[in-house]
Amino acid sequence: MKSIKVIELFAGVGGFRLGLEQYNKDLFDFVFTNQWEPGKKIQHAFDCYVNNFGSENAYNEDISKVKYDIPEDCDLLVGGFPCQDYSVAATNAKGIEGKKGVLWWEISWILEHKKPKMVLLENVDRLLKSPSNQRGRDFAIMLMNMHNLGYDVEWQVINAADYGMPQRRKRVFIFAKLRELSINENIERKEISLDVINVNSIFERDFPVIEKNIKKPNLFLEFVDTFQNELHVTSNYNLGKFFTKGFLINGYLYQYEVEVNKNLISSYKVLNDILLNDADIDKKYVLNASQLKKMKELKGAKKKERIKPNGEHYIYSEGKMSLNDEIYNPGRTMLTSESSLNRSTHIIKFKEGNRNRYRFITPVEAERLNCFPDNWTSSIESEKMRYFCMGNALVVDIITKLANQIETRIELFGNNKSIKVTKKADFNNKKNY
Ligand SMILES: C[S@@+](CC[C@H](N)C(=O)[O-])C[C@H]1O[C@@H](n2cnc3c(N)ncnc32)[C@H](O)[C@@H]1O
Repeated sequence: MKSIKVIELFAGVGGFRLGLEQYNKDLFDFVFTNQWEPGKKIQHAFDCYVNNFGSENAYNEDISKVKYDIPEDCDLLVGGFPCQDYSVAATNAKGIEGKKGVLWWEISWILEHKKPKMVLLENVDRLLKSPSNQRGRDFAIMLMNMHNLGYDVEWQVINAADYGMPQRRKRVFIFAKLRELSINENIERKEISLDVINVNSIFERDFPVIEKNIKKPNLFLEFVDTFQNELHVTSNYNLGKFFTKGFLINGYLYQYEVEVNKNLISSYKVLNDILLNDADIDKKYVLNASQLKKMKELKGAKKKERIKPNGEHYIYSEGKMSLNDEIYNPGRTMLTSESSLNRSTHIIKFKEGNRNRYRFITPVEAERLNCFPDNWTSSIESEKMRYFCMGNALVVDIITKLANQIETRIELFGNNKSIKVTKKADFNNKKNY
């Protein structure tokens, strides 16, 4: 029987769901899923989602309008939410009020009113240091908000390629669980040993790291006592960016920078592993002379004079990039603009007789970079939109790995037991990724 009730927000083409179902299709019950692309008549991502998963419990409307339909007593909320400005403004009439339209406050509302036991979110790693004029403020607001709603939180920046996946895609994964269900429920507010915290981390087994620059003093900051509310964080936060791994437990903040121990991972994938045979590539993906010229220009070094909004002139410079991608490295990060000619577009060099030719990656290769099955997005007529949806999606296998840890936690919580030390993966066993 499907026993873990899941809410999937900002579902895109369903990376979270696919990742969880790849682990065990019979375990997760998707009771509410939501995807809506603002201002678009054709809802490509939603249509693709429904094509793959069916339309049961799937809502194609603005989350701010349909959040009321979300059932209570769910186990898990997942979502890769768009990154925006989270600042909180004070209004005379209403006191503290989240800025309208900022999607974090929709998630926050759902946590407050629907209280899922656990939450797994994904975002760009820039979230930990935004905005640029008040580094770290946005994430501080999220942390404070989740703490106030009764959740303990942990996060880690994961580069999929460091763990054997074919794309260098760095994202922050944020996992929160209701404090009353956490290991620390009986612990008074006091500092806990980092070893205890680490060993209980959802990321510990499958995304091991080396701790660097543990934040002083002794990683410990009385975050919640420093800032009384989100408005206070907005106006006063000046503690800088957040580190690449951290925990907010019972109001205490623990942070450090992560370094990956490559010896622990037995096999790595590179771009070449996911490429189709050159012979099978349709000619339309091969760059013509003018596209080649344009790409050489774009990827070349340049200095340009530009003008700031205040009228000041400055020199913008870019270094030279290799025209084609190094296929014996994991692929570079795929963006939503993959289908257009820009510096980030992947270019594959191949031989036609003795001649060097260059081609774009195909939609199937874009899917493979994110560990989606071939043709996951083939119901989307526009190829441009297939690349776009992949640029928005996540590397699915990360979620598949985390699914086992989620299952363990739900089982323990269901039995009203606290989590004991999780067994570390046996990396000497050379697990094949
Ligand atoms: C970063 S993408 C998530 C992609 C997803 N994880 C996947 O695997 O495809 C964020 C998604 O949120 C959707 N979105 C943006 N605003 C929304 C809103 N107000 N209500 C519902 N969905 C929204 C976007 O259309 C986009 O597909």
